[in-house]
Formats: sequence, structure tokens, C-alpha cells
Amino acid sequence: MISFNKEQIFIVTGASSGLGEGVALLLNELGATVVAVARNLERLNAMRAKCKFPENMHIEIKDLAEDIEALPQYVKDLKNKYGKFTGLAYCAGIVDIQPLQILDYGSMQKLFNIDYYAPLFLSKGFGDRRNNVGRGASIVFISSIAAISTDRGMATYAGAKAALISSAKVMARELASQGIRVNCVSPSDIITPMIKETEDNRTIETFYPLGAGQVSDVANMVVFLLSDKAHWLSRQNYIVDCGCI
Ligand SMILES: NC(=O)c1ccc[n+]([C@@H]2O[C@H](COP(=O)([O-])OP(=O)(O)OC[C@H]3O[C@@H](n4cnc5c(N)ncnc54)[C@H](OP(=O)(O)O)[C@@H]3O)[C@@H](O)[C@H]2O)c1
Repeated sequence: MISFNKEQIFIVTGASSGLGEGVALLLNELGATVVAVARNLERLNAMRAKCKFPENMHIEIKDLAEDIEALPQYVKDLKNKYGKFTGLAYCAGIVDIQPLQILDYGSMQKLFNIDYYAPLFLSKGFGDRRNNVGRGASIVFISSIAAISTDRGMATYAGAKAALISSAKVMARELASQGIRVNCVSPSDIITPMIKETEDNRTIETFYPLGAGQVSDVANMVVFLLSDKAHWLSRQNYIVDCGCI
């Protein structure tokens, strides 16, 4: 059984909604301390109201796309406030569907900021040995099935998610000497506010032979990868798609 103690502190981004919320709640339920990062205080408070151990759920309001180069300092500031980190679950992100002929550089930059640059600069801070616990620490990024099985209109999103997988593999090599593991989880359609914006839920329900993916399907995988049970797993991209790609 996976369990944590409150001295194990995890940064979870995107904790105000969807997959990040699921990861934050599960880590907290299993005994860990969570630093829950997102922009929307109301939704973060709603998430915290659902958690099992509110005293171990700390809310941090932050626009991760605002000053990306300062993110390593941000991690250091969080470390000074909460202590050294055992893990980072990067679950923040946006999707933007843009066919080639309406490709817009500004929108592409906006997406790359939160889906690619911010996770790298946050990891730069996390990977600083003064900010993490060393051996046993773990980073998990939420990428996407779009990185592998692409569709029309996904050029920017698929590119950012594929880049994240490749960079995670590099980070895994670089951080292995500290005993830090780095993995990606790549879901297909999971019912969250994001997917409700872009897809027809009835189509999803019938497409997957085991029904639509739920937040818990991804959260369980992420939390397993953050735990000691996965101590020999690194530099991988785990697909969570009901076997459908
Ligand atoms: N749902 C799926 O089917 C699916 C499939 C494959 C991959 N993914 C990936 O999984 C990740 C999470 O998706 P989701 O479905 O959970 O989406 P979601 O419900 O829309 O949640 C997105 C989260 O990202 C945060 N966020 C967005 N921009 C931010 C910014 N600039 N600074 C800080 N936080 C920011 C949001 O918080 P605030 O608005 O409060 O800041 C929110 O908590 C994304 O990277 C997505 O691409 C999702």
C-alpha cells in the first residue's frame, strides 16, 4: 500500500482543477504534505475543503506563466517556507486547438509558456540540491497522448507535450546522480473541466471500451510514480489511455 508522512512535501501545480486537484487530494489523503499551486483562490479553497487533512494542504496562488525565469527562485522561496521537497507533480496546463492556417504566434507562446517552459524552470528550481530531499525525490509531468497520437489542429499542443517528454528524459539523466527520478504520464481523454471545453463527453464515453477516463485513473498513476514503490522507475512516459492509441 502506498503511504506518505507529513514530512514528505510535494509541490502540485494545477491543483485548483482536474488532474492536479486529483493528485493533490490523493497525496494528502495518503499522508503527504501538499503545496497546492494555481491562480484561482476560490477553486483552490474548494479543493482544500474536500481534502482529508486540511492542516497538510497549503495553498499558493501563482501564475506560473508570468515570470518564468524567476521560477527557480520561487521554488527556493517555497522551500524556505515549507522545507525541502520530496516531489513535484506538474499538472498545470492549457490546450489550444489551432489548424495550421490560423496558427498564431502569440497563442503558441502562451501555450508553450505554461505547458513547456514553466515545467522546465520549475524543475530547475526543484533539481537544485538545496531544495529537494535527494535520493527518493521524484518529478512527474502530465504530458498528453497528443504527443504520440496526433490529430488535426494540435500542432502547438502536441509539439509542447512531445517536447516535454523529451526534456523529461534529459532531466532524468541529469538528476539521476542525486537519486531523483523523472517520469511523464500521458493521458488520453479524462473527464475534467479542460476536456469538457473541447470534446463531446458522449463521444468519449462510447469510444473507450472501458468508459471514459476519470481523474482518479491518472492521479493513481502519478502518485504511484511519486512514491517509493516506484523507486526503480525513471525516464519513462506512461500512457493512460485504456489501450486505445
Ligand atoms: N483532461 C484530459 O483529458 C487531459 C488529457 C491529456 C493531457 N492533459 C493535460 O493534463 C494537464 C491538466 O489538465 P486538466 O484536464 O486537469 O485541466 P484543467 O482542469 O483545465 O486544469 C488546468 C490547471 O492548470 C492551471 N493553470 C493553467 N494555467 C496556469 C497558469 N498560467 N499558472 C498556474 N496554473 C495554471 C489551472 O489553474 P488556475 O486556472 O487556477 O490557474 C488548473 O488548475 C494539462 O497539461 C493537460 O494538457 C489533460
